[in-house]
Amino acid sequence: MKDAAVDAPAGSAPPVRLDDFEPVAKTLLPQGIFDYIAGGAEDEAALKGNRQAFARYRFRFKILTPADQPDLSSEVLGQRFQMPVHLAPTALHRMAHPEGEAAVYQAASDAGVAFCLSTLSSVSIEDVAAAARGVRWFQLYMHPERAVSASFVERAVDAGYGAILLTVDLPIAGRRERDIHNAFSLPDGIAYTNLLGRQSAATAEGPDPFAQMVNAQIDPGLGWDDLEWLVGKTSLPVIVKGLVRADDARHAVEVGARGIVVSNHGGRQLDYAIASLDALPEVVDAVGNVVPVLMDGGVRRGTDVLKALCLGASGVLVGRPYLYALAVGGAEGVRAMLAMLRDEMAVSMTLLGVKSVSELSEDLLVRI
Ligand code: FNR
Ligand code: LAC
Repeated sequence: MKDAAVDAPAGSAPPVRLDDFEPVAKTLLPQGIFDYIAGGAEDEAALKGNRQAFARYRFRFKILTPADQPDLSSEVLGQRFQMPVHLAPTALHRMAHPEGEAAVYQAASDAGVAFCLSTLSSVSIEDVAAAARGVRWFQLYMHPERAVSASFVERAVDAGYGAILLTVDLPIAGRRERDIHNAFSLPDGIAYTNLLGRQSAATAEGPDPFAQMVNAQIDPGLGWDDLEWLVGKTSLPVIVKGLVRADDARHAVEVGARGIVVSNHGGRQLDYAIASLDALPEVVDAVGNVVPVLMDGGVRRGTDVLKALCLGASGVLVGRPYLYALAVGGAEGVRAMLAMLRDEMAVSMTLLGVKSVSELSEDLLVRI
């Protein structure tokens, strides 16, 4: 890849795989911001577990079944995408790059994948919508005041977002000890733009100022009635993000969810939570024939995407890698990151003997 915007600083080689962006981003970002992005809860066992789960699967590849130039395109909720990889909602992109969410959305749009904007974004719902034309989804954190949540949903509808992802694994922020050590708080000049004027006057005092700021924006009593309320409130499809159990998935679909994201929030919430990939099969068994089941957590390779799809996912989301790529090269960095995943997927599909994502099945995997 020859791309000035993702040239690494002198002395380090340019990124060739997703994990190469992280060390470069580390040299560019203040430590508090890097640790906020990279970190997980407590022992970071759930964070590491997401990666370990992928390593336990190996491929039983097929031979002499020509699959050059495989078709990576895939569908979610009636939309065709150029590959089954989308960008997970993450807070405050301007901490990583001045153009923030606008740059990330442009890159997703160019790559033909969906961008999911966080409630806690640093560029507003409307300004992101104006930045590109690709598929955009809005992630909702239920605010302590229903009227505020209702206004977010209305703004997302008016601004042409195609789905609402309700995140359900964060009634309160997990204990991220890197943030506690760093006394991490909202950096100067960065704000939750969607909340301006309504942002609760949370004090930045106490042992974990950032968590306090997050907690002030989110209803700790989040329950099934909130999902029901949201489904009744909007005609947009509601996708529930952040569950790991078959019974919860069934319940969510009964209440009206039109999609599921199996996720432990990138290991940032309940530590020792089951790896997302390990939770995927039971959720697919429970609801996979009714609604699309996506997953996130630890996706770093084209082969990871293929493994999740073999286990029945309709697609995956990536989180941290695009934030590092954004820090390194803005929109160009994120484009390069997505191109790497695409290239890796294409080569691996050819070697696996699979011409299109619809041919990916459990039969191609073994768990070791
Ligand atoms: C997140 N995540 C997240 N999820 C969400 O629903 N709303 C949010 O605002 C955020 N914010 C956020 C910030 C940062 C810095 C990270 C790393 C993550 C979770 C995110 O959507 C996703 O579940 C994980 O990032 C997936 O794991 P990987 O790909 O980072 O391993
Ligand atoms: C996080 C929240 C804000 O994971 O979702 O940092």
